[in-house]
Amino acid sequence: MKKYFVDDTIYFVRTKGSGPILLFAHGFPLDGRLFEPVIDKLASKFYCVVPDLRGLGQTSLGANGRNSHGVPRVKMGRFADDLAILGSEVACERGCKGAKVFVCGLSMGGYIMLEFVRRRPQLFAGGIFCCSNANADTDGNALSRTYLADTIDSYAIRTLADNMVPSLTARETPKDNPDVVATLRAIITSQKPQGVAAALRGMAVRRDLTDKLSKIEAPILVLGGESDVISPVELLDSIADAIPNSSRATIPGSGHVPPLENPDAFADAILEWYGRTFE
Ligand code: MLT
Repeated sequence: MKKYFVDDTIYFVRTKGSGPILLFAHGFPLDGRLFEPVIDKLASKFYCVVPDLRGLGQTSLGANGRNSHGVPRVKMGRFADDLAILGSEVACERGCKGAKVFVCGLSMGGYIMLEFVRRRPQLFAGGIFCCSNANADTDGNALSRTYLADTIDSYAIRTLADNMVPSLTARETPKDNPDVVATLRAIITSQKPQGVAAALRGMAVRRDLTDKLSKIEAPILVLGGESDVISPVELLDSIADAIPNSSRATIPGSGHVPPLENPDAFADAILEWYGRTFE
């Protein structure tokens, strides 16, 4: 993995390919390994930049991954700013300083992508909004996240994996593709409690960006799994309807993590959209 200074921490990043920069933002409580199965195919059209986001995977939290009382918390805007810094660094390194970038955000990564568009529209070429939503947390959800953040330790992360993994995949995935379940468990149980707590607290205070969807000018592909119970097909249909320049695709045989469950279909949907929209 490559290392990049981003703000006050060092980001661990997988890179591959050539063409426009495509920055990936993974879901919770995962890391860049989520996208590893799709990098090779997408590298035919994009320079893929797949980080472990602040506090997750190998990237450490840094002082700016804490609130003013020193409590771990990474807001979606901080993640989005980190991505913008990383994108700019990569663009300089590749001799295309100031170039616009594409963003692919899955679930928590989708919240981050919407913040990126809101904060840096001038940097945003287009994106893939995957298995996510534009809402803020309900009060109840925010309270549960904050409670979990306050009590999380390595044992609780194993319990979190037990509780989350069944809802992350399509019902058939554990039987048809047990490796996906093993990979998800391995990714989740390897996370550090303070990074998980920081992301939980950040998601709990995220804004409702529903009314910003109609203002997005750049092309967006809204992508989801056909059996995703967290971001169901109808929810993603309504998000695609709200974004003026959107396309919509649904990945068969997949729940909430299509890059792991059906990587070829996930990558093909992105390549097809890119070809149709930009070439
Ligand atoms: C994710 O996959 O990133 C989570 O489902 C997002 C969330 O907990 O809201």
